[in-house]
Amino acid sequence: MRLSSTLLGVAAVLGAAEAQLRGFNYGANFLNNQAKVQNDFEYEFNKAKSLPGTSGWTSARLYTTIQHGTTKDPISAIPAAINTKTKLLLGLWASGTTAAAGQANINNEIAALKSAISKYGTKFTDLVVGISVGSEDLYRITPTGISNKAGAGAEPADLIKYIKQLRAAIKGTKLAGVPVGHVDTWTAYVNGTNAGVISNLDFLGVDAYPYFQTSMANSIGHANETFYSAYNQVKNVKAAKGKAIWITETGWPVSGPKENQAVASAANARIYWQDVACSLLAGKVNLFWYDLQEAQYGTPSPDFGIFGAGDLGTLKPRYSLSC
Ligand SMILES: *[C@@H]1O[C@H](CO)[C@@H](O)[C@H](O)[C@H]1NC(C)=O
Ligand SMILES: *[C@@H]1O[C@H](CO)[C@@H](O)[C@H](O)[C@H]1NC(C)=O
Repeated sequence: MRLSSTLLGVAAVLGAAEAQLRGFNYGANFLNNQAKVQNDFEYEFNKAKSLPGTSGWTSARLYTTIQHGTTKDPISAIPAAINTKTKLLLGLWASGTTAAAGQANINNEIAALKSAISKYGTKFTDLVVGISVGSEDLYRITPTGISNKAGAGAEPADLIKYIKQLRAAIKGTKLAGVPVGHVDTWTAYVNGTNAGVISNLDFLGVDAYPYFQTSMANSIGHANETFYSAYNQVKNVKAAKGKAIWITETGWPVSGPKENQAVASAANARIYWQDVACSLLAGKVNLFWYDLQEAQYGTPSPDFGIFGAGDLGTLKPRYSLSC
């Protein structure tokens, strides 16, 4: 990509002004579908802040702004973030089995967001570093997406509509200046059909998992190269025009099935951390790792958690987090 020197200058100034974000992805519910309450989120946010061998993991990415099991109550991660001084990349769930269902979700997400603004005021809004409209919605409407991940997605035109609705909803509020983005797989961004979505974003939230790239040589030895190839392909998409790229999900599983040549193990998760996490941190790229703990009880497969199942307070990381 070619940028004029003026643009590069502006980018450098903006980059320097913003500290790098380091965070994890936090679901609204446990593996058994039980809703997380404020205490649960505080427990997780505090654990992330005190990891051995690394520091600065004080940001949280949420998939939804709605408290699990309610129609449109604000998620209890918000008061937990206030109590633990955790920065928030908010998410609005944008997918539905029909476009009407997707729109109904977005209406509820925006209602929850507005309630949170009036309930918590600047204690909340000062912590918000970004808002993502949607999560992997474009991936889910592709042929591979449907076979890999059951569930509905959202068409590019609908996402654009939702992004505009969110921008209109935060206009004139304390969240007005917050960057608005979208999270999707890197493959969705390099797909030209989705260029219109990119044009409406302030930042591109990119999910990339070399472990799942089974049509390629995907052993751990190829993982760093595969990750950066994906990252650079998104960077070079014409519509991206040098917009900020945040890595919103990446990681390597500690246990789970072999995917083509990719072996899930703590040793390989450590290599992936050392190569990919450490280089992103050194490069000051905003990073939301997948994941701190995938499940408190039960064994997900694959399991990407730095911590396995059990009480986070007593668990030790399954691999070294030093760089
Ligand atoms: C490209 O994106 C469009 C719209 O989001 C989708 O329908 C299509 O399946 C995608 N193509 C591939 C190869 O994933
Ligand atoms: C990972 O890839 C990046 C980008 O190509 C490169 O700069 C870095 O040296 C690679 N790291 C390793 C450990 O191979």
